[in-house]
Order: sequence, then structure tokens, then C-alpha cells
Amino acid sequence: MAGLDELFERNRAWAAATIEEDPHFFTVLAERQTPEYLWIGCSDSRVPANQIVGLLPGDVFVHRNVANVVVHTDLNCLSVVQFAVDVLKVKHIIICGHYGCGGINAVVHRREMGLIDNWLRHVEDVYLRYRDVLEAIPDMTARVDRLCEYNVLEQVENLCRTTVIQTAWKNGQPLTVHGWVYRVDDGILRDLDICINAIDEIPKLRDTARYLAKGP
Ligand code: CO
Repeated sequence: MAGLDELFERNRAWAAATIEEDPHFFTVLAERQTPEYLWIGCSDSRVPANQIVGLLPGDVFVHRNVANVVVHTDLNCLSVVQFAVDVLKVKHIIICGHYGCGGINAVVHRREMGLIDNWLRHVEDVYLRYRDVLEAIPDMTARVDRLCEYNVLEQVENLCRTTVIQTAWKNGQPLTVHGWVYRVDDGILRDLDICINAIDEIPKLRDTARYLAKGP
């Protein structure tokens, strides 16, 4: 396959370098995975979960889709969450958005891109919920970035309302849901101070929404 040979070469070099550093790395990983984290992030090529937080294969279970959305009826996302929580027993779930997200940008600028517009209607729901605050921000880049933050907040809430998460909490399983935003232009993660580990903590997200409305 012309053009892709380089990828296989890079793979062999990476596997060799990894084994040189730890001869048992792959054989240990092949036995089982025990990640402590589930990462739900955007599909954007500039936001690779493992690299951003410096974690190795085996350390983080990952689900990515356009604009890091948790939809109540998305069997794909729900299955990832259920497997991560019930089988892998992850302790932390991180929903990580990123500033300048193309999906969020398309919603703010009403850009039409085809089928994906239907997926992004979920982000538009978030836009409409915070429309007053968002439309009071004159700078469009800042408006997009604020929606990136609100979107993380709303997806955290969606996740916390799933039966999977609520059942885990009811059973006393230690599990915390976090909301972060990554900045593509400096490589730095920002913690939105969202830290939900029980059903009765969910209303705290409204405090975060009020805090976000004040801006940076
Ligand atoms: Co994105």
C-alpha cells in the first residue's frame, strides 16, 4: 500500500524502542488491561488522549467522537462507559473538550457540513440552553471557546444521568466524573473544577455553569 509503508516502519521502530526500555511491556499488557481512567474526548487529530496526559498503552480506556458528546441513546458511547465502569472498574471518567473545536465552531457559525450537522444538533441544544450568555460575547473565538466549556459541562451531566453511572454510585463503587478542556495552541489542559462522585452532587453543575458565565 503505497504511502502507508512509512506507518508500518514507524510502528516497528516504536515497538522495538518500547521493548528495549521494558522487555516485558507487551507480554504483560497482553495478559490484561487495568486502566484507571476512561477518557471521552473529541475525535480531533490534535487531541490524542494518551499523549496529552503522558500515559502509556494500557493506562487509559478511550471513547472519542466529534465534539465529545454523550448522547443518552448512543449505544456505542454507553457500551464503552458500561464496560469501563462495570468490567474494568475505572475510577475516573474524564470528559475532555478542546478550545477551537471544529464541531463547536460549526454550531456557533451555523456552518453546514452534511450528515454531521445532525450529530452536532446535540451541541446546538447546549448552545440554545446558554444562548443569552453566549450571544453577549462579541468576540466569536471567545464565544466558541465558552461553548466548548458549556458543552463539557452538559456532557458531564448527561453522563452522570446514565443508569450505568448511577447504578455504580448506588452500589458504592468509587467513581468520579471530571470535566476538562484542552488548548490545542499551547498543549495545556484546563480543569473546569467539575468533580462529581455521587448522584446528589449533580446539582453542583449549575454552580459551575454560573461560574463559567462570568468568563475567564
Ligand atoms: Co473537536
